[in-house]
Amino acid sequence: MLDALGDWKRTNYCGELRAADAGREVVLMGWVHRRRDHGQLIFIDLRDRTGVAQVVFHGDRAPEAHAKAESLRGEYVIAVRGQVVPREKPNPQIPTGEIEILAAELRLLNTAQPVPFQVEDETTASEETRLRFRYVDLRRPRLQRNLALRHRVIFEMRRALDEMGFYEVETPILARPTPEGARDYLVPSRVHHGQFYALPQSPQLFKQLLMISGLDRYFQIARCFRDEDLRADRQPEFTQLDLEMSFPRQQDIFETIERVVERVWTALGLPISRPFRHMQFRDAIERYGSDKPDLRFGMELQNVTAFFEPARETLKLKGTVRAVVAPGAASFSRKQTDELVEQAKSLGAAGVYLVKVTPEGPSSSLEKTLGGETLRAMAQSVGATPGDLIIAVAAREERKDLDPACLIAGQLRLALADRLQMIPRGRWEFLWITGFPLFEWSETEKRWVSAQHPFTGIVEEDLEKLESAPWEVRSKGYDLVLNGVELGSGSIRIHRQDVQARLFRMLGLSDEEARHRFGFFLDALSYGTPPHGGIALGLDRMTALLAGEKSIRDVIAFPKTTAAQDLMADAPSTVDTQQLDDLGIRIKES
Ligand code: AMO
Repeated sequence: MLDALGDWKRTNYCGELRAADAGREVVLMGWVHRRRDHGQLIFIDLRDRTGVAQVVFHGDRAPEAHAKAESLRGEYVIAVRGQVVPREKPNPQIPTGEIEILAAELRLLNTAQPVPFQVEDETTASEETRLRFRYVDLRRPRLQRNLALRHRVIFEMRRALDEMGFYEVETPILARPTPEGARDYLVPSRVHHGQFYALPQSPQLFKQLLMISGLDRYFQIARCFRDEDLRADRQPEFTQLDLEMSFPRQQDIFETIERVVERVWTALGLPISRPFRHMQFRDAIERYGSDKPDLRFGMELQNVTAFFEPARETLKLKGTVRAVVAPGAASFSRKQTDELVEQAKSLGAAGVYLVKVTPEGPSSSLEKTLGGETLRAMAQSVGATPGDLIIAVAAREERKDLDPACLIAGQLRLALADRLQMIPRGRWEFLWITGFPLFEWSETEKRWVSAQHPFTGIVEEDLEKLESAPWEVRSKGYDLVLNGVELGSGSIRIHRQDVQARLFRMLGLSDEEARHRFGFFLDALSYGTPPHGGIALGLDRMTALLAGEKSIRDVIAFPKTTAAQDLMADAPSTVDTQQLDDLGIRIKES
């Protein structure tokens, strides 16, 4: 038998009661977290979003409430009126551990089926079960904290941007495709048979149009949709802090973002230092083998090509040889070194060379080919000391734009740092990467594609090389990296119509195709476009880093699986024939 809430008004949240509240009459509401029945005494841990408080039902003092409490089970929803009293045996484990509530009256507001897993910070429930019962999963304090944190992050961003004169503007969800490199989610039009909207991969074109419209400073907490392969840090729909400004220097955008980030971190009590560090793309590749280097630890890559020069023929080397020095890893077991070699090969290494540095000098199977003297010189040049392991790699393929040996060594650097537990916790290493190449060569499409997106500005001096040496053309793009994660990406844009048209041609779009896809935008560029630029930060990634979560799924209320499904509501789903008929769509049997 359920009770009505009636005119009861909650006086407090469970988690906020302290010793100083003793003596107060309170009304609490929430979920039965745990129940312990000692006959005449029944203890309930009552939970709401702030935490738990212990409620005691005495058989002799409040017989009616006590009798009702006997029927309580996990996750029942109740309201309790009672008095806060000091606990006989305080529990130092929880913030409310010094008090309990002596129940006078109980209202049973709702029952619950047995839940598929316990509402606790740690759970052994599978990801699938958690997502199927997301409403139970979200009751776990950890996810409650994550959503509260996410709210705080967004709130502080809005405040900081408002203070800097940015307007929040919503842009359409039903739009025309924006090319950000992923596949579009399409929405069929009922009114216009055979025609489709695309869900925006980002508000890129709209925000540029807002600059053409004279809005000057725009931002949006923007939902983006991309039909791409998913990983722990990718969702098919995700959220960006998206912004754009007119007449900016690159530095102005950096300052804006740094102020936003500083505001968020400070609000969370996390000190960071500004300005953030800067690094050229080429240096990042050369020194860390990555365009998003994790600077929380050193272990920079070393170019050891010169030491391998005499054996180039024998070892059938193509490009350069890059090395990582793993401190203390000379003691790695055969199994551990085999794993490293395997990993390097799977990343595209043609040769993987290990040198153990012992007190007697370097020891390696390379000794026959390179000679002890060269090995010693190499060990010295890379700064290896006894106990260290040098891992040198050469790549199978060669590339004009990037040195693949660096990329492989960069991956090994990360894997080794992880294995050697060299990555300190609680450090925030922000880094701006600039000087990106404008293009990347696509092996599958056999053409140059935009490294970022086709609206990225081009360094003026490089414009003349656009057609003749595209791999040398630098973009006006930048990325913001945090602890080895690409947090955001942006650029000063192309604001001249002729340059934009030329770029489309370079990307293999005929003038006709460019007009068909972007005619409206090319037109807009010709109506008085100010120089402009902006950036978008991945809000889910930022929150996951702040929350210390590995997956962005844990900071999104209702995320999708890696197969892009919503297991709870069972989406995507089939639709009935009538709906398809209205849209003029027939499903092909696959
Ligand atoms: P970009 O595509 O680099 O740039 O995206 C910006 C940032 O958004 C985050 N992000 C994602 N987060 C979760 N799931 C995904 N599938 C996903 N894809 C991207 C990343 C990334 O750094 N319009 C440009 C921005 C600009 O030029 O202003 C853009 O969208 O953190």
